[in-house]
Amino acid sequence: MRARNGGATDEWCTSWRTVDTELSRHVEALHGRSVHLNCDGPDSMFARWFAVHADMLGLRSLTCTRWNPDAHSLFHPDACGGRWDWTGAGWEHSHLAGDGSYASRECLQVSRRADLVCTNPPFSRFADYMQRLLDMGADLLALGPLSLVKSDPVFPYVLSGRLRFGYTCSQMSFLIDGRTPAVLRNARWYTTLPVCRPVVSCEGSRGRLPTVDGMPDVCLVDRLALLSDEPGLYAVPLTFLDRWPTPGWRLHGLLADGAAPWKLGVARHEGRELFTRLLVERVRDA
Ligand SMILES: C[S@@+](CC[C@H](N)C(=O)[O-])C[C@H]1O[C@@H](n2cnc3c(N)ncnc32)[C@H](O)[C@@H]1O
Repeated sequence: MRARNGGATDEWCTSWRTVDTELSRHVEALHGRSVHLNCDGPDSMFARWFAVHADMLGLRSLTCTRWNPDAHSLFHPDACGGRWDWTGAGWEHSHLAGDGSYASRECLQVSRRADLVCTNPPFSRFADYMQRLLDMGADLLALGPLSLVKSDPVFPYVLSGRLRFGYTCSQMSFLIDGRTPAVLRNARWYTTLPVCRPVVSCEGSRGRLPTVDGMPDVCLVDRLALLSDEPGLYAVPLTFLDRWPTPGWRLHGLLADGAAPWKLGVARHEGRELFTRLLVERVRDA
């Protein structure tokens, strides 16, 4: 029933390796934080990672809240969501009044009091998750599908510079229902924490690139290896954000249809509609 209501990856548990590879890169930014893991119990690798490193990070507080899909149902009228607070020596458990959804009023209140919210939320609810958490103003480090970066609740935060991808852009490992190993290539960490990247190196030549139909000054780039260092506009795949933010490049919006001001119209090449591209500009170095 739960699988039918959610998405295929909603019950994929994040592996220690996936959590450790990314979170180890943010140690400085995590220092002294109060952290809310809002889709996790104490058995999740997020909970374990933060508990193991709590002293080293000087965490002010660490709280998990876990959703209970059976909460207050016909057959489980007394069931409810769970809360766990790290004491320094172990987890202190308490019952929530509601179902423990990240979207419930009591969990949003915990998130609001924290200064960092971190988890792998259900991918099928990712856009809703991001909208609620980003609107609240907490710092965020959450795993999600690459494709949803272009969704209406998420993209404006990328454009404004508040949100970016984390460090891991390669395959990440998970356990389906906590048992079967699985790998995702198209998951990304979405974060408001600072991310420091090397300068993009561009080997391509602008003169050899095709242009977007009706936009003669926008060069079309299928693979980032073809990107050129010459000033001008480029239509690039969403994976450009794996290198973003990067000095010397400006993000203008999405080449997609829609009423939002950052949607600049669908890109076509020789009449064929292209997958959503980003419109970016190589600007001259100051
Ligand atoms: C992709 S799994 C990840 C679990 C855990 N965060 C981890 O990384 O191992 C997403 C989890 O969110 C739970 N979930 C589904 N809907 C939820 C909701 N509305 N609020 C909080 N958690 C939810 C699912 O039951 C599942 O355990």
